[in-house]
Amino acid sequence: MSNETSPRVLVVDDLEANRAMLARRLTRRGFDTEMADDGPTALRMLDESEFDIVLLDIMMPGMSGLEVLRIIRADRSPAILPVIMVTAIHEKDGIAEAIKLGANDYITKPVDLDITLARMQTQIDRRKAELALHSANESLKLRVEERTHDLEKMNFDLRNEIKQRQSLEEGLRLEKRRAEAANRAKSEFLATMSHELRTPLNSIIGFSDLIRQQLQSEAPAGTARFGEYAGYINESGQHLLRIVNDILDLTKIDAGKTVLNESHTSVADLVERSIRLVDALAQKNNIGIDLGGELEEVELFCDEILMRRALLNMLSNAVKFSHSGGRIEIRAELDTNGDLHLIVADTGIGIRPEDIPRVMEPFGQADASHSRNHEGTGLGVPLTKSLVELHNGRFEMDSEPDIGTTVSLVLPAKRLQMVTDDVAKQATSAA
Ligand SMILES: Nc1ncnc2c1ncn2[C@@H]1O[C@H](COP(=O)(O)OP(=O)(O)OP(=O)(O)O)[C@@H](O)[C@H]1O
Ligand SMILES: [Mg+2]
Repeated sequence: MSNETSPRVLVVDDLEANRAMLARRLTRRGFDTEMADDGPTALRMLDESEFDIVLLDIMMPGMSGLEVLRIIRADRSPAILPVIMVTAIHEKDGIAEAIKLGANDYITKPVDLDITLARMQTQIDRRKAELALHSANESLKLRVEERTHDLEKMNFDLRNEIKQRQSLEEGLRLEKRRAEAANRAKSEFLATMSHELRTPLNSIIGFSDLIRQQLQSEAPAGTARFGEYAGYINESGQHLLRIVNDILDLTKIDAGKTVLNESHTSVADLVERSIRLVDALAQKNNIGIDLGGELEEVELFCDEILMRRALLNMLSNAVKFSHSGGRIEIRAELDTNGDLHLIVADTGIGIRPEDIPRVMEPFGQADASHSRNHEGTGLGVPLTKSLVELHNGRFEMDSEPDIGTTVSLVLPAKRLQMVTDDVAKQATSAA
């Protein structure tokens, strides 16, 4: 770009005197002035360097001013390179032609300097404005292009990510379907197998019992111990049946096929009956069972048989994993939300905190060396947990090795009612 303070002007005239005079006057007015004495020279100079404006004589020998103008306008607009024609006053046709060809303006000879300067300044200002606009446009275009490019890239990346996620999701869905199918197959297999085992087991239990009774009353000679053996068969059969039943129940709950047979059940009864079932074993092992809490008047809306089974599982664990001389406490409490906590706490061997998640899983047992001393399959805890959850409750287990274990079966307040509270009772039974 030419110097801001001195605009560059090219004066094109074949007459040395005209050129020199105009150049001198313009230079004096602060222009950076160059001269050309014919058309081809002018065109060459315009190609070689940048000018702010051209003063172009029309009448020149060889290439006329109009011819020069035509060539200039072939690739430079009036805004980019203003051309003012210099002409004699009588050359009207030439002026009209020049304007058609894209001349910005004209001045007549003899040149009036003030008019010339005013017209030049107008064109120079216009060019400046045009160039500024052009460069603003260019940078805007550039920015739009950059932004468009950025957006396209972002869009591309986003599409890629979406594709990746979709395929990931598809994979996960497939995996989930496979896992669900595998789980269903496992449950169906366990349920069928357990069911099929129950019939022969019941025969084994029934007939072994019959044989034992028979042999106890009249054992033929040499079969004295056969009654005892029949007793072992019976016990083993019952043990196996219990496992089979646990598996069947667990798979049924898992499959959502368990239907609760619900009624209002006295919590005190529930607790007492469960204790009665483990009492003999506890006494045999010299373990005391204490009844805590004062909730005799609370009724729980539940499946009584299943809830008793849950409590019994926890009580038998407490007995099984306690040392001789240990104590077990069973109590019922209401928390601040009004939820019922059926708590079984023992002073037995305890469970290491890291083993607790495992014992909640089917067939999961804590320390193998401990468990080996005790009979069991590892189904009591998961079954109890499922039973409580089936009643919209939750199972909590807290334990410390060598200190003891506390298990809470937490049942929601909405399943409870006070026996003395008649209004509440009516409301619940009506619901
Ligand atoms: N009160 C407890 N004290 C210490 N360990 C316990 C207690 N209750 C459960 N456990 C641990 O959790 C394991 C799982 O208990 P769970 O009742 O599920 O199975 P189990 O008693 O071994 O067998 P099952 O109940 O099927 O006859 C137990 O083997 C034992 O390691
Ligand atoms: Mg158990």
